[in-house]
Amino acid sequence: MKVFETINELQSHLDALRESGKTIGFVPTMGALHDGHIQLVKTCVSQNDVTVVSIFVNPIQFNNPEDLAKCPRTVEPDSEKLESAGCSVLFTPSEKEMYPEPDTTVMEFGGLEKVMEGRFRPGHFRGVGVVVKKLFEIVKPHRAYFGEKDFQQLAIIQYMVRKLEIPVEIIPCATIREADGLAMSSRNMRLTAEQRTAAPGIYAALINARENYSWFIPSGLEKLVMTEIEQNHELKVEYATVANAVTLQPFEDWMDVEHAVLCVAVFAGKVRLIDNIRLY
Ligand code: PAF
Repeated sequence: MKVFETINELQSHLDALRESGKTIGFVPTMGALHDGHIQLVKTCVSQNDVTVVSIFVNPIQFNNPEDLAKCPRTVEPDSEKLESAGCSVLFTPSEKEMYPEPDTTVMEFGGLEKVMEGRFRPGHFRGVGVVVKKLFEIVKPHRAYFGEKDFQQLAIIQYMVRKLEIPVEIIPCATIREADGLAMSSRNMRLTAEQRTAAPGIYAALINARENYSWFIPSGLEKLVMTEIEQNHELKVEYATVANAVTLQPFEDWMDVEHAVLCVAVFAGKVRLIDNIRLY
């Protein structure tokens, strides 16, 4: 596995591979890699000649400075995991390399960024959009891989790629879960033993909602999920939202939308966890 810290060196390496007809797959990450990331990398390896992974903790997507400070930096174990998963190129730029000047890019996502996460994390999706666009321009991948756990992020990146006509195919990948259902996340390692025991209750409530949604109106289902999750006192729901799975907008009648998703953000102490399930 080759490791690059500068854009120029990475690009010379990738330009040569692209010119020789190799396909390039890309998995952007912020490091602290778990099996969810590794599954993205393995899928990428199986579909492309060259797999590029970036590790960059993107400061401009953190609306909460405490979250940025607590974001684990584990480049050495991450490199080992990537090497065993078959990654060919690792890109670990510094902040100065990515943002030589303060970033002022204006981003627009057709309203997708205003709901759910967008309501509670102002500026977050602008930061994600800026860095992912920049990384796409640097790596110029044929395909890029994103997990469905970050459902809204995925929808926003798909929108950005369509709108800006970025020539990359976005490949959504299913959420990877622990055996007890908890969605894998680098935040899980910050849970106390009690919070970790409680956290699978989030997915259990989502499964129950999918099985029983037709008995409720969407807002009733949101209340049910909230109550069920909060039955465990370790968990506090920030939002439980039923949305159109394409536009991410709320709706009132199941008959009005072709595909619906239920997204939640839940605090276990200070650790904020997100998850989602497609209802139909
Ligand atoms: O999902 C993430 O880890 C980040 O938001 C991403 C896509 C790597 C951009 O920093």
